[in-house]
Amino acid sequence: MNETTLRRDLASLPLSDLRFFEQIDSTNAEALRWLDSGAPDGALVIADGQTAGRGRLSRRWVTLPGSALAFSVIFRPRPAELEHPGLFSPLGALAVAQALEVGYGLQPQVKWPNDVLLDGRKVCGILAETAWTGQRLDGLVVGIGINVLPGAVPPSEDLLFPAVSVEEALGASLAREDLLRASLAFLFAWRERLSSPHFLQAWEARLAYRWEAVQVESAGSEPVRGTLVGISTAGDLRLVLSSGEEVHIYAGDVRLRPAEPKL
Ligand code: BTN
Repeated sequence: MNETTLRRDLASLPLSDLRFFEQIDSTNAEALRWLDSGAPDGALVIADGQTAGRGRLSRRWVTLPGSALAFSVIFRPRPAELEHPGLFSPLGALAVAQALEVGYGLQPQVKWPNDVLLDGRKVCGILAETAWTGQRLDGLVVGIGINVLPGAVPPSEDLLFPAVSVEEALGASLAREDLLRASLAFLFAWRERLSSPHFLQAWEARLAYRWEAVQVESAGSEPVRGTLVGISTAGDLRLVLSSGEEVHIYAGDVRLRPAEPKL
């Protein structure tokens, strides 16, 4: 992967600008720095390796050179998008899921709110971060990490959730640039329909654990167990409790798990 071939491979996309790094601390951190110094809407930061990749819930995200895709897209939200900034991370998940379906015939699922699974194992994580001036949302960075080659998957003892690479799930090798281009193409296309019924249906149609018993954990509160029935129009998770009551869970800092059977 290098800047010249990337620029050529991505030329047909509505990218406003691109910064490529052989190695960087974190593409999200760089995208936020760039936002601060005036990055345009639709700019891309991509790196072959990250030394301080960031995951959700303040976790680390390891990106070894040559094995993965690690990139961040910068958005300057339009007025209508300011109504639902929380939909930008599922936007990333839906885009990667569709790229895997259309380009490689795989059957990914989206683990709410924003992980992509293949065969029930995590292949992609998304971290959306925001930049504010006072109460005003200046920009939003959608960081996407995809395990492409088997070497991208950390040792199992370092994992909280089983992981897989695209190549392992596919049983064949692939060009990272092709998966990148397809993911970005779907990302920009779905952005135009963010929050539309079509977007929510496409997301919901790929939801992992739908109609299954799950447990949602968030720091400082008791886990909530219920049957996952879908997504609300706001992008919240809809759970039906054993009492029959429907509750909506806001993404925030939560973890979703298949429920352990009650003993
Ligand atoms: C998660 O599942 O915890 C989210 C992982 C997000 C990782 C990506 S890799 C590109 C971008 N830069 C980062 O530092 N993090 C995101």
